[in-house]
Amino acid sequence: MSKINEEKIHFTEQQTIIIKEKDYIGRILDIGGGGEGIISQLYGDKVVAIDLSEEELKEAPKNDSLKIIMDVRQLKFLDEQFDIVTSFFTFMYINNEDLNQVFKEIKRVLKPGGKLLIWGLKIPKKREIDKEIFAARLKVEFKNKSIETGYGTIWEDNEQDIDKFIEIARQNEMKVINQKQGKQYFYLEVKI
Ligand SMILES: C[S@@+](CC[C@H](N)C(=O)[O-])C[C@H]1O[C@@H](n2cnc3c(N)ncnc32)[C@H](O)[C@@H]1O
Repeated sequence: MSKINEEKIHFTEQQTIIIKEKDYIGRILDIGGGGEGIISQLYGDKVVAIDLSEEELKEAPKNDSLKIIMDVRQLKFLDEQFDIVTSFFTFMYINNEDLNQVFKEIKRVLKPGGKLLIWGLKIPKKREIDKEIFAARLKVEFKNKSIETGYGTIWEDNEQDIDKFIEIARQNEMKVINQKQGKQYFYLEVKI
């Protein structure tokens, strides 16, 4: 990612995200899977990682996942192709008004009974005095690795929290099956 003046960034306290590898059977679609490409690092050739940015996909560690430049708002897959869809700190980059369309697309490409797993940031409403960028400092622990990283997004009319995603899931007739909240992040699992 391009360098931004740190004075313009509001950083959260460091949040530790521990991901326990699960024995998923089937194919995983990882949305916004560039950058650290955490889900691809975990599940390798089970993963189709899509990202709007070619640069972010090329930056991600090399492994056996299939990487494709694609916009989640308009997926190019046929219906019912995936068992799991993941969004690891990607929805914070999607405009709130696009999220409903994004959920519809995800539901369309999931097989019946498929799941959507969301790791997201709690982004409060921006006030006049707040900085331009809202960024999470994260420590991600998985397998035997520990990665320290930061994900930042423009802070403007994009307040997000778990309730927002639960509501969009309900509107799309998806059922919440698991949820967890840290101080400044959340994890949500929904099923179709
Ligand atoms: C910071 S990354 C999230 C972290 C990443 N999942 C990881 O494991 O490191 C967010 C990604 O979402 C991508 N993105 C933003 N809008 C998108 C869209 N509409 N469709 C697909 N990818 C998008 C960005 O290009 C960026 O690479």
